[in-house]
Amino acid sequence: MEQLVPHLLCATQQAAIAAAAWVGRGAAVRADGAAVSAMRAALMTTPGRGTVVIGEGEKDAAPMLHDGEMVGTGVGAAFDLAVDPLENTTACAHGADGAITVLAAAPQGVLWTTPGWYLDKLVVGPAAVGAIDIAAPVAANLAAIAHRLDKPVEALTAVVLAKPRHGELVAELRSAGARVSLIPGGDVLGALRALLPDGGADLLIGVGGAAEGVITACSVRLLGGDMQARLAPQSDVEAERVSGAGQRAGQILGLDDLVAPGPCAFLATGVTGGDLLQGPLPLAWGVRTHSLLLSPLHPGLTVEETHDPLTVVAHPELAHA
Ligand code: FBP
Repeated sequence: MEQLVPHLLCATQQAAIAAAAWVGRGAAVRADGAAVSAMRAALMTTPGRGTVVIGEGEKDAAPMLHDGEMVGTGVGAAFDLAVDPLENTTACAHGADGAITVLAAAPQGVLWTTPGWYLDKLVVGPAAVGAIDIAAPVAANLAAIAHRLDKPVEALTAVVLAKPRHGELVAELRSAGARVSLIPGGDVLGALRALLPDGGADLLIGVGGAAEGVITACSVRLLGGDMQARLAPQSDVEAERVSGAGQRAGQILGLDDLVAPGPCAFLATGVTGGDLLQGPLPLAWGVRTHSLLLSPLHPGLTVEETHDPLTVVAHPELAHA
């Protein structure tokens, strides 16, 4: 796994540089397309036999690295990938904070996969491992987390995607006494806020993308937190896809189901700004990227790298001019 990490880092960096050309241009699909194309090109030069087992895009008819797509040089060990070449596309299109490029990798068969698009997620940091039960009422989870963190429920902050489907959840969190940090998009970064000691949040809760859920599970594994999820189809079409694969709506998945114990890696690079990651910064002599690298050997490394213009893969077909 460790020998793959520099190549995987290069994939998120190249995707971020490509997407950055589209920041604030109101062109979400073209930004996504640029990121997908650059990430794919970088992944093709990664040693080994990679398979994208869960990707993002199909639910939004957006450009994608599709499920089952083979990447890598074809020579070397087999590995699986969960990818989101541009996470929080809207933030990129709007020039707002919180867009990243992100992927997770593990040996073959380690990452869970589903044809479903949405998962209900509950993520906490290391101090609350074992305290969560996604099937229990929200207030019970808050009480258990607060007990573990040795602070009152009133001092807890829950990160929730600001979506109409979360109206009741937000009301329950608030009536139990917790603060709610509503984010317009980007629950991979939202989960990191709960996982990192200075992230300013204690849990992430609610329904978001399935690929983002598997990617998040790898960050949870590497940062020593805890996560539960359940399949949460948002349409009849999605429910049929899920049941057609022998999976069940509401089926509860623990961290070990989402990412089996063992090595995995998580790489993210900023596309726009934010507390955790900065977007690519053009310099006179190249472009500087800002990434988060989590692997068994490096369980929390931020990487600032300046890329020579000659090493940045050009995609003239995607030029916005
Ligand atoms: P995109 O990469 O498609 O922009 O996803 C952003 C995001 O907010 C994810 O972080 C989240 O998991 C998902 O969308 C939720 O999906 P939806 O916006 O359809 O509710």
